Amino acid sequence: MTEVIESRSEKDTFALGQKLGGDCRPGDIVLLNGDLGVGKTVFTKGFGKGLGIEEPISSPTFTIMQIYESGRLPLYHFDVYRIADPEEMDEIGYEDYFFGEGVCLIEWASLIKELIPEHVICVTIEKELDKGFDYRTITIDRN
Ligand SMILES: Nc1ncnc2c1ncn2[C@@H]1O[C@H](COP(=O)(O)OP(=O)(O)OP(=O)(O)O)[C@@H](O)[C@H]1O
Ligand SMILES: [Mg+2]
Repeated sequence: MTEVIESRSEKDTFALGQKLGGDCRPGDIVLLNGDLGVGKTVFTKGFGKGLGIEEPISSPTFTIMQIYESGRLPLYHFDVYRIADPEEMDEIGYEDYFFGEGVCLIEWASLIKELIPEHVICVTIEKELDKGFDYRTITIDRN
């Protein structure tokens, strides 16, 4: 099932993230793809709010994964942009998180394609500059 949503502002993208965060269930894996500066972190902050997470969500710059436990479910926030080799995922024991009872949100998931399970929610954010600087299409694929 594919859904395409228009975002015209940072606020729209945050609100969509918040809705998905509110709807997600234990074991869900959300992949987040899109170019630099497109709004992945904005979406993630909204997602965290939807899960009821109180602490500020940042990008896990120096670690591949950050755990947030103050929400309705644990959030395992991965940013694999700087990963050089998918084996780094083994080193942090990613399977415990992917197949656990929390929710995984994985930024730049396309870089670790071979590790991604079959049933995931795939969110792709894209700019469409001819529709304005702040315009984004957000595609949600559930399989
Ligand atoms: N419709 C929109 N949705 C989301 N962000 C928007 C939108 N319009 C403009 N912006 C701006 O785009 C920027 C998105 O930044 P953000 O850090 O979320 O991107 P990112 O995808 O996480 O980048 P990176 O890959 O570098 O981590 C923000 O400055 C935000 O204000
Ligand atoms: Mg980011």
